[in-house]
Amino acid sequence: MKKPTVLELRRKKGAHLAMLTAYDFPTARLVAEAGVDLILVGDSLGMVVLGYDSTTPVTVDDMVHHTRAARRGAPHAFLIADMPFLSYASAAQAIATAARLMKDAGADSVKLEGGVEVVPIVQALVNAGVPVLGHVGLTPQTASALGGYKLQGKDEESARRIVEGAEALERAGCWGVVLELVPAELAKLVTERIAIPTIGIGAGAHCDGQVLVFHDVVGLFSGFTPTFVKRYTEAGNAIRDALERYAEEVRSGAFPAREQSFSMNVEALRRIYGT
Ligand code: KIV
Repeated sequence: MKKPTVLELRRKKGAHLAMLTAYDFPTARLVAEAGVDLILVGDSLGMVVLGYDSTTPVTVDDMVHHTRAARRGAPHAFLIADMPFLSYASAAQAIATAARLMKDAGADSVKLEGGVEVVPIVQALVNAGVPVLGHVGLTPQTASALGGYKLQGKDEESARRIVEGAEALERAGCWGVVLELVPAELAKLVTERIAIPTIGIGAGAHCDGQVLVFHDVVGLFSGFTPTFVKRYTEAGNAIRDALERYAEEVRSGAFPAREQSFSMNVEALRRIYGT
């Protein structure tokens, strides 16, 4: 699949863009081979790969390490890397973080969380030539301040904040906006109000694209699975069954069999045995 330009992405209203996360070489390769349009190296890796109970401990070094691996797995994909918590608290810090994610790790764009309050940061990045994907609604890095991993935008005040946030991100120069865990009607309104693509997660069917976490989609994350996730396979169960069979066969001596073994010249072997 040909990598889209940022200008092309900006125009993908109604395009039903399919985006998935990937955090390493094999998963990025599978996601790219499946023809998914956009790959996100999300800071969700903190939970599904590194075993933290939130995304806040994730560091820029973690993101660089995983973005590099994902880039090696999907050299031609449009790759977006998350700016981790407290890595964009000032314009200068945001530009330094983006430089690491794009120049050192090979990302095509960065994503950061927040609405109106991050506009000066987005503007500084965009002025410096960094493509930015926004993220409003449930923003996991600050989930605690939002009352936990809960549906956002249910009441008028919070819904207005989300609409205004998305509009402000568009004006600040984002090429798209992720809408996380908001009512479908609100996502529809935002999608109609802004001219850049919305990419939903738990935001209903009216967004211009959808994103899910790889480990949720394939059944590899044994923690909490939100109701908006659709599991397309139970790879975790298949892997566990295979590993149990491996352990059994090692213990019973069934593995390795002749097909998994090598043999050597009989004469050479006799000489070593001294017979
Ligand atoms: O970190 C992540 O994977 C994300 C998606 C859930 C949008 O931000």
